[in-house]
Amino acid sequence: MTTDEITDLLTEAYVDELETVMNYLTNAIVLDGVHAEEVKESLEADVQEELEHARMLGNRLKQLEQSPPGSAAFEASQSGLQPPEDTTDVQSVIEGVLEAEEDAIETYQSLHEAATEANDPVTEDVAVTILSDEEAHRTEFRGFQKEFPSD
Ligand SMILES: [Fe+2]
Ligand SMILES: [Fe+2]
Repeated sequence: MTTDEITDLLTEAYVDELETVMNYLTNAIVLDGVHAEEVKESLEADVQEELEHARMLGNRLKQLEQSPPGSAAFEASQSGLQPPEDTTDVQSVIEGVLEAEEDAIETYQSLHEAATEANDPVTEDVAVTILSDEEAHRTEFRGFQKEFPSD
């Protein structure tokens, strides 16, 4: 059984994933310098994974006889992930990624909880699958953060 809470969370997560795709792609393109290469490669790989998350969420909405949204109602929220003015400021991008991954983890935990309550195991499975990817992304960027201690 589905609930409004589930479809709202699926829709919110879908939009967030697409904003993440845009910001990771942009930062993978703009960063400069010797410290940037690994972070850029990692962002590039994550773009594909975040896009796949959006695809899974959109397909789940379709199965629930809903439609994922187009861009008309889109409101940006990832202020921490805007490309830095100083394109060698890899640290600010790392901090922005960690913030985005934390937000995503919270959303998928909520989705998992709502799906469990509603006895919707298919949505639960989607939530757990994506949650495990987001936790892996967070771990990877925590590793990068260790090389760029905040001052
Ligand atoms: Fe994602
Ligand atoms: Fe992620």
